[in-house]
Amino acid sequence: MNEKKKLPLPALSALDLFAQVFRDDAQYAGGTGAAWAPGRVNLIGEHTDYNDGFVLPLAVDRVIAFAGRAREDFQVRLWSTHFTQYAQIALAGLPESFDSQREHLPAWARYVLGVMTELLRAGVRFSGFDAVVHGDVPVGGGMSSSAAIEVATAQACMFFSRGSFTIGSQDATLQPIDVAALCQRAEHIASGVRSGILDQAASCLGRRGKAILLDCRSLAYRYLPFDEPGVSLVIIDTGVRRELASSAYNERRSQCEEATNMLRGIIARNESQNSPVGAISALRDISPEQFARYGSELPDILRRRAGYVIAEEARVMETVALLEKGAVEQVGSLLWLSHEGLRDEYEVSCPELDTLVEIARQVPGVLGARMMGGGFGGCTINLVRSDAVEPLRQAVDEQYPAHTGLRAMFDVCRATGGPDSAWVI
Ligand code: GLA
Repeated sequence: MNEKKKLPLPALSALDLFAQVFRDDAQYAGGTGAAWAPGRVNLIGEHTDYNDGFVLPLAVDRVIAFAGRAREDFQVRLWSTHFTQYAQIALAGLPESFDSQREHLPAWARYVLGVMTELLRAGVRFSGFDAVVHGDVPVGGGMSSSAAIEVATAQACMFFSRGSFTIGSQDATLQPIDVAALCQRAEHIASGVRSGILDQAASCLGRRGKAILLDCRSLAYRYLPFDEPGVSLVIIDTGVRRELASSAYNERRSQCEEATNMLRGIIARNESQNSPVGAISALRDISPEQFARYGSELPDILRRRAGYVIAEEARVMETVALLEKGAVEQVGSLLWLSHEGLRDEYEVSCPELDTLVEIARQVPGVLGARMMGGGFGGCTINLVRSDAVEPLRQAVDEQYPAHTGLRAMFDVCRATGGPDSAWVI
């Protein structure tokens, strides 16, 4: 059966390359096919995930795909078109050999190794495969290329081992949200960044025309409409990537934990009658009113970090209310506020991101814009009346290079479905 029509373009390109790249005498089992998973954008709720809060992302029509064939042994061989590099993973020694294998792998393949390790740790069994890895999620560009490769890995392991485990059906071995949690653990061991679950959950749970409201504490989620034709979602990539990002991310996370511990103590001293102390285990548990009352008792830096997170939580809820009543245009004003908080209080923006947001602010019909993701580079998300997309593109083309000496990549995205796979032969 030829299912080629269903495949996203990167999967088709990867399939075309497969026979050229893997021309040796490997013992293959079964047919040729592809598995893929999407990148994500986050409408609002930045740095709230690891504070046990809410996020509102959507999976977008950019994917990372694995195209190839199952092997009869427990080897995985990969060719990355983006990095023009091979990587090889031996499943037989995992999870024990994780550290020694990780050391010899390029960064992109460590995510793959991480997912395979976590699958095996979870008791899931699968066999080896050879595949070309190809995608159109900008690498390191704030659209979660790492989550896309992780979720695509889980999908590929399931697909090439022909259902030795299953994802997503009613009595599946793993539900999509379990895959997200497993891929989040994989990200931790692969990269050393203590990231939240936002990226992996968005990639796993994506649905066409929908934003996903995820409670990062309970992992409950529901979908909200996001398909208003008059409003477009524009992603603009600064072209900047900064090494600082990982250490600054872990630092922010620790600061939030410290602020939580201090606030728990302060609130316990002041309110012990009404509010059991155990109830505060993350910034999510501090109400804006409590913060207004006690926030000033924190050291300045912690007060600003916590203040941003608590205000951002409230913005997520306001956005939900707006989407529920179909008032998507009004979400824009919350994006501007979110950017200001990320820039001034959370301090994870950078001059290039600020420049893109300021350029957008001057274009009539841009409803709102902010930096997106971890920060210190990557991209901005812009909510734009569809007839203002071209004027915004022009403004960015003209002004961004003059301010920064760089060119920005401009992308219009749509909310799409989660991971998938198909056989072609
Ligand atoms: C990165 C992390 C996510 C999330 C965002 C900030 O993308 O991987 O878990 O914390 O930063 O919202």
